[in-house]
Amino acid sequence: MKSSSNLVDLIRDKIVLSDYIGKKVKLNKKGTDYLGLCPFHNEKTPSFTVSDSKGFYHCFGCSAHGDAISFAMHIHSVDFKEAIEILAKEIGVNYSDFKNYNPKITKDLDEIKDILKYSKDHFISKLNDQEGADAIKYLQKRNISDKAYAYFEIGYAKKSYNNLLNFLKQNKYKEKNLINSSLIRMNERKNTTYDFFRGRLMFPIHDHNGNLIAFGGRSMNGENPKYINSSDSLLFKKRKTLYNMHRAKKFVRKHKLPIILVEGYIDVISMYHVGMYGAVAPLGTSLSEDQLLIMWKYCDEPIVCMDGDNAGYKSAVRTLNIAIPILKPGKSLKFTFLPEGKDPDNLISDGKKDLLEQKIKNPISMFDFFWQSETKNILLDTPERRAGFKRDIEKKISSIIDKTVKQEYKNSYYDYFNKFILKRNFVKNNKNNYNSYNIDRIIVDRAKKNLNTNKREINLIESILNNPHILNELDEDFSVLPIVNKELDYIRLGIVNIYAKNGPLSEEDIEKFKKNVKYSDIYDKYFNNINWINKNFIPPYVKKNNDDVLVIKNWREAAAIQLKWYKKNYSKAL
Ligand code: GTP
Ligand code: MN
Repeated sequence: MKSSSNLVDLIRDKIVLSDYIGKKVKLNKKGTDYLGLCPFHNEKTPSFTVSDSKGFYHCFGCSAHGDAISFAMHIHSVDFKEAIEILAKEIGVNYSDFKNYNPKITKDLDEIKDILKYSKDHFISKLNDQEGADAIKYLQKRNISDKAYAYFEIGYAKKSYNNLLNFLKQNKYKEKNLINSSLIRMNERKNTTYDFFRGRLMFPIHDHNGNLIAFGGRSMNGENPKYINSSDSLLFKKRKTLYNMHRAKKFVRKHKLPIILVEGYIDVISMYHVGMYGAVAPLGTSLSEDQLLIMWKYCDEPIVCMDGDNAGYKSAVRTLNIAIPILKPGKSLKFTFLPEGKDPDNLISDGKKDLLEQKIKNPISMFDFFWQSETKNILLDTPERRAGFKRDIEKKISSIIDKTVKQEYKNSYYDYFNKFILKRNFVKNNKNNYNSYNIDRIIVDRAKKNLNTNKREINLIESILNNPHILNELDEDFSVLPIVNKELDYIRLGIVNIYAKNGPLSEEDIEKFKKNVKYSDIYDKYFNNINWINKNFIPPYVKKNNDDVLVIKNWREAAAIQLKWYKKNYSKAL
């Protein structure tokens, strides 16, 4: 049975309004909202605003106002049902799965909501009467203030099999609904019911709209499991819920606080103590795509703050991998890592609030974390290893669905590759006197004096000048290509340098390069000589050529011959 009554909620949850409307109206970011020309009346200056956090659009010109559903109704001139059908497609769910809407389910859901609310009140009252004395002591031991446990509505479930059951029985709820609330369990063998949470501190869990949907319960005497949660139900979907999101979003909206993703309930509560009201936590699992989309509704760049241990790092990497494919313009994550063995709760309890604040204020960007995690512990010291690295990283980047973000990731990646890897190897290979070719300084100096013109050396460089974009593929090979002719090698180094600085080369870059006084004379001497060109056959890979595959293949063949020739004549000669 699908939760048919919830398709509307699902749509409101999943659609990022600026993203959806942005496909039909050109929107520009203004503060936390977006601004564009109103599609519902004629205007020259934009007065149409879209707010993701509020889930509404509003036009100050014509007063058009509504959510994703009313936008779809108006823009497509369709009725409510048809709009839902269009939007269901938009979020990739099958409308027919939700067609058999059953009003009975709604009634049962209402009763379950009631059960949860009464139980929450019951747990709070148990915490505050004498039976809760040990639980209060535990809260004090954990440095959770009176104000905090009242704010988070923390309660106490007695160590009893029927305390809650007896309380709920007063209200004649259907047994089925008691069980579906996850608070009461059925013992099939004995055909009796009993309390699921016993002797535990109770954390009410809400969806991001503030509906109470579940509980988490922590044991206080070392009993395992440390935490138990309500099971998934019609009402509660663990992977779509973030602890404290419904409170955090208000602060994020009003006071522009960032959303901070931490690992656990107690971390969220500790952060509340020090004024970081935007903290939220997944419920004991790593972050899901749905949870990320919820955070993005309220905050462009939530900060992921995981515990300073191996598990925390791994969890951050999993979050990164969830986020990469679904990045959207303007929507990203930031990451910060706490000192070894620390979580926000014990930093705050240890009086290291300043350190925590400093960590939260200085997160690293998503791309930097991506780069760090991809280059961590891998060797990039040979062309083959670098090629393997490139293949893997390019595959990940190509999984980004949004074209603009994908392109920007590619650009940043080229940039970093040149800066941190190519340049490093380039410096190593060139400053270390062609170490990889096993020759010493004297040989290099001799080689550099050589001005003999070797047709192959001209071809290898001219091919790059005529097809600069293939350098993306050949950068490694080109940066270590041995060229004996001193002047030609000077040209090669010049190209490698601009590439290392600017990333992928365009034809414009090459035009500028040719005109640069440092290179223009040599360029004219070797590449602008009409007679030379007329007299000689020019292989297709040397000319401007649209067949990249052929150019790259032929270039590599020529480079291999060049290398062999070079080793034979120069590395052993003296
Ligand atoms: P405290 O030990 O109370 O400080 O909690 P913590 O938040 O430091 O716990 P930890 O880092 O071990 O776990 C983080 C989150 O994972 C918790 O808040 C729970 O949501 C979840 N979690 C931890 N242990 C369990 C468990 O045994 N079962 C389940 N279902 N969830 C757990
Ligand atoms: Mn903890």
